[in-house]
Amino acid sequence: MRPYVIINSAMSADGKISTVARRQVRISGKEDMQRVDALKARTDAVMVGIGTVLADDPKLTVKSDMLKRERVAKGRAENPLRIVVDSNARTPSTAAFLGPNALIAVAQQAPHHKVEELSTKAEVIVVGERKVDLSALLARLKDRGVDSVLVEGGATLNFALLSLGLVDELYAYIGNIIIGGSLAPTLADGDGLTSDFVKLKLRQIRQIGDGVLIKWQVLTPRH
Ligand SMILES: NC(=O)c1ccc[n+]([C@@H]2O[C@H](COP(=O)([O-])OP(=O)(O)OC[C@H]3O[C@@H](n4cnc5c(N)ncnc54)[C@H](OP(=O)(O)O)[C@@H]3O)[C@@H](O)[C@H]2O)c1
Repeated sequence: MRPYVIINSAMSADGKISTVARRQVRISGKEDMQRVDALKARTDAVMVGIGTVLADDPKLTVKSDMLKRERVAKGRAENPLRIVVDSNARTPSTAAFLGPNALIAVAQQAPHHKVEELSTKAEVIVVGERKVDLSALLARLKDRGVDSVLVEGGATLNFALLSLGLVDELYAYIGNIIIGGSLAPTLADGDGLTSDFVKLKLRQIRQIGDGVLIKWQVLTPRH
């Protein structure tokens, strides 16, 4: 058993989610950011890969005070659980997401001193030997009552989860810019697939500003 997993990503018209320098780019506008904030406020946990932490240093919190108050009124924490997938415990001790209700998933090979240091700033769990075992991590989350996870990138984590059949829904906002660059990250990078591609069913298309929001259902088997 695992939680319901949604990936949300914003990409340029040419499919890039940031630049070749891996610098964060504003791809969507205010309306789409509010949609993502509302999606985040509905979920139990938000997850990103360590690459996104090192590139963007996100807080992973709900931005709207009203949405936070609504969560609290329903007996939930102000923010979802903030999870970073970080096999080698590379999270900087100054990372913006650190604090109460933050969780770092590391692998057994992570340097002990880094794990100890991070344990003073977040909950650290060991799941996997050389890399974080994503299936096992999701199972652990489900066991502790996390029923929904919003994955906010980046390219490598998105691909890993999709190729393992661990994603239920994918929101892609396509913005009205071209970024280019053969090495710029795309919605799903990793090693790529050469057959048995991840199949999607189109559920919704909506114009937001000068871009398009597409909601896909992921049709790969549910693990
Ligand atoms: N536009 C958007 O919506 C959006 C959203 C988020 C990020 N971004 C952009 O995406 C870029 C970051 O993407 P990224 O691909 O470099 O990093 P990422 O996907 O955020 O993190 C990837 C890292 O996660 C770790 N990881 C741990 N276990 C893993 C597993 N089982 N499978 C795969 N990865 C695992 C790996 O590092 P270890 O081996 O060290 O653990 C891996 O290198 C940045 O440029 C950022 O700006 C864009």
